[in-house]
Amino acid sequence: MPPKIRSAEMSPQGLSVTWADAARADFPLIWLRDHCRAPESYDAATNQRRVDTFAIPGDLAAAAVAVGDAGAVLEVTWRQEDLTSRYDSAFLRAQAFDEAGLPARRLWAEGPPAPVRHGFAEILESDAALRGLLSDFWRDGLVVVDGLPSELAATRRLAERIAYVRETIFGGVWHFQADGARADSAYSNEAVGLHTDGTYSEDPPGLQCLHCLAFDGEGAFNVFADGFRVAERLRSDAPEAFRLLGEVEVPGEYLGDGVHLLARHAVLGLEPGGALRRVCFNNFDRAPFRPQPEVTEAFYAALRRFHALLSEEAFHLRLQLGPGLAVLFDNWRVLHARTGFTGHRHMAGFYLNREDLESRLRLLLG
Ligand SMILES: [Fe+2]
Repeated sequence: MPPKIRSAEMSPQGLSVTWADAARADFPLIWLRDHCRAPESYDAATNQRRVDTFAIPGDLAAAAVAVGDAGAVLEVTWRQEDLTSRYDSAFLRAQAFDEAGLPARRLWAEGPPAPVRHGFAEILESDAALRGLLSDFWRDGLVVVDGLPSELAATRRLAERIAYVRETIFGGVWHFQADGARADSAYSNEAVGLHTDGTYSEDPPGLQCLHCLAFDGEGAFNVFADGFRVAERLRSDAPEAFRLLGEVEVPGEYLGDGVHLLARHAVLGLEPGGALRRVCFNNFDRAPFRPQPEVTEAFYAALRRFHALLSEEAFHLRLQLGPGLAVLFDNWRVLHARTGFTGHRHMAGFYLNREDLESRLRLLLG
């Protein structure tokens, strides 16, 4: 249950709402009128706005403000219209504090976490188990699934239990071994440094799964680093480097296998308020580009600084996947790498779109 509204009063910023737990937020009147949930303003059947945003008067004023239903509702009666708008406490609270139905992030602050493990059979059978898996994934950026049969059909069942599979140049549910089948170092037995996937896509995959079908050899550790954690270190240690990596758009490229994909992203994608939104870093797939000459030296210095932090082993989580195990990680946050290996290794995996897994989690959290 969201906290009850204790009081609401006019302030220079509009309407100042205080909750029972002392949290407080200001809501400008134009925002409140635009978010009115009365039937003439909002179609609850389609969840679409009906209010004519552009007809809201510039001198909008409230004739009366009240807290109703023992603090569960805020009511605003408008001076210019014969209308009382009602807002649920939970709705206002979610808008004020970005509690949009998703768990809070937990950075790998004290070294990498021991990844939470979830059982494949439980995930398939129980919505509560799936909710647990996706909540942990959202919070930590990485979870491990055990008990998977070593077959592609199991990889697909795991994917489709969460959302529909994203088709890419690699297919939907893909599998690879060190056979050079694609123009990508994943299809070799070489070490691959820390990176995120899909920097050449306008919408990089939100979730990546790696499922071990077979491994008989030495090496092949998967290494992960919490990009948000590393970026926050950069923000405090070298704010100018952080600023540049948040501004300079770097092109990523996939050239081969019948495609030439190209997209541009800042290495550190930020929300308007400055919070981290997405890390996009793949130095192997970086396309030729020429930053502004006056910032080129500083840009390379910033990139070097970020890479030096990423390379610190204190940030690294190392997993050696064997048959039956899969790792799911947040490709907008967690970077991945692989050490070299000998022997036979057969991996499967898939990508999911960010919005689809978010949608699934929101509905499960209901
Ligand atoms: Fe990768």
